[in-house]
Amino acid sequence: MQRGLLHSAKPWGMYLTRTKRLLSRRLRTPNTRVLGLKTGLIESFGHAHRAETISHTRTIHEQVSYPTDAKAQEQSQRPKTAVVMLNMGGPTDPKDTKAFLTRLFSDNMIINLGRFQFLAPYIAGLRANKVQRQYEEIGGSPIRKWTEYQGKKMCERLDKLSPNTAPHKAYVMFRYADPLTNEALESMKQDGVERAVAFSQYPMYSCTTTGSSLVELWKSLDEMKLRDKFKWSVIDRWNDHPTYISALAQRVRLGLAQIEESLRDQTLIVFSAHSLPQMVVARGDQYQQEVCHTVQLVMRELQYKNRYILSWQSKVGYLPWLEPSTAAVIEHIAPQNGVKSILVVPVAFTSDHIETLYEIDIEYKELAHKSGIEHFKRAPSLNDEPLLIEAQAQIVAQHLSAGRAWASRQYEIKCQGCTNPYCRTVANPVSKP
Ligand code: FES
Repeated sequence: MQRGLLHSAKPWGMYLTRTKRLLSRRLRTPNTRVLGLKTGLIESFGHAHRAETISHTRTIHEQVSYPTDAKAQEQSQRPKTAVVMLNMGGPTDPKDTKAFLTRLFSDNMIINLGRFQFLAPYIAGLRANKVQRQYEEIGGSPIRKWTEYQGKKMCERLDKLSPNTAPHKAYVMFRYADPLTNEALESMKQDGVERAVAFSQYPMYSCTTTGSSLVELWKSLDEMKLRDKFKWSVIDRWNDHPTYISALAQRVRLGLAQIEESLRDQTLIVFSAHSLPQMVVARGDQYQQEVCHTVQLVMRELQYKNRYILSWQSKVGYLPWLEPSTAAVIEHIAPQNGVKSILVVPVAFTSDHIETLYEIDIEYKELAHKSGIEHFKRAPSLNDEPLLIEAQAQIVAQHLSAGRAWASRQYEIKCQGCTNPYCRTVANPVSKP
C-alpha cells in the first residue's frame, strides 16, 4: 500500500519539482505580471497541490519582490523637501487654554518678566477662565485648521512650481499649542526628511514671534540630538512679496464690497496689527517698520481711494505699547473726523484667530456702535484666499531656487543687547548665508 502510494505520487512530484525550478528561474525578476502567470500555471496542477504551490509562490514573492517594491514605494513617498509652517497656534479645544497661556507667558522673548519669570504659570492661571470663555464663544482657535489647509494647498502648487525639490510636505509647528516643535520634528524624522525650510507664517519679522519660534526650533533640535538630521534654511519674512500684497488687497476689496455703495468711498480703512511693547521696538525689533511698509504697498495697489490709518491691538499689561490702539481709533479718532463707516483690516496674521473673531468682531463692534460709528465691518482674514496660497508657493519656490540659508539679509541684524546664542542663527544650514 505504501509502495502504491509512493508510486502514484511520483509523476506529480516530478511535475512539481520541474515547475518549482522553472518558477525559481523566472521569479528572479520582481515582475508581478510574471508572477501572475506562474500562479495560473500552478493552479492547473489541481486542487490537492494548489495550497502548497501558492504558498510557495508567496514565499518567493516575499523573498524576491516585496522588499524592492516596498523600498521603491517608501522612497517615492518620502518628502524630498519639508516646509515647516511656524506659527504661534491656539487652543483648538477651549479646554486647552490654560496650557496654551502658560507656554505663552513662559516665553521670555514675548513676555519678559525678568527675575519674576517663574510667576508665568500663575499669571496664566489668572487669565485662563476669561480667555477660555472667549475661545468657547468662537468655537476654539481655527489657526490649526487654516494652517493645515494652507500647507496642503501650498505644497500641491509648489510641486508644480518646483518639480526638482518635489515632493514637498508641509509640517505645522506651533510655539504654544499642538503640534508643538518636538512633535513636528518627530514626524519629520519618521518620514525620513533630509531637507527642511522653516517658513514663518508671520509675514513681518519680530523677535517675539518668528524669532521665538526659530529659537525654540534650534533649541529643540539640540535637545533631541537632531541638529545634523536635517539641512535647514529659513524664510524669515515676506511682508513685501507682490502676490501677498495682492492677496491682502483682494481681502480689502471683499471687505469694502460688504459696505453699501453710497458709503464705500467715505469708509475709513483701519489696518489693525497686533501691538508690541515699546521696549521691544526700542531694542531694534523690525516688526513695526515692516507692518507700515505692507500697509503702504496695499494702499498703493488700491490706488489710495480711501482714507486709511494703521493702529495696534491686543495690548497686555501696563507698560507702553505701540499706538494708536485700534480701540482709540474707533472711540476717538474716527468720530472726531466725522467718520460714520469703518472697515477693519487684520494685518500681520495669515488666518483668523481670537483677535479677529472675538476682539474685532465682538468687542470692537460693540465699541463702534457706542461711539456713533454707523457701519462697522471687518475684511475677511486671508484663510482660504487663493492669492495667499499662490504667494506662499511662489515664496518657497523662489527661496529654494536661490539656495540661501535665509531669505532676507535683515535676518543678520541682532537686537541691541541680545545675548541669546540661538538668535539669528540657522542650525545645520543648507548653504553659507
Ligand atoms: Fe532680537 Fe535676540 S531678541 S536678536
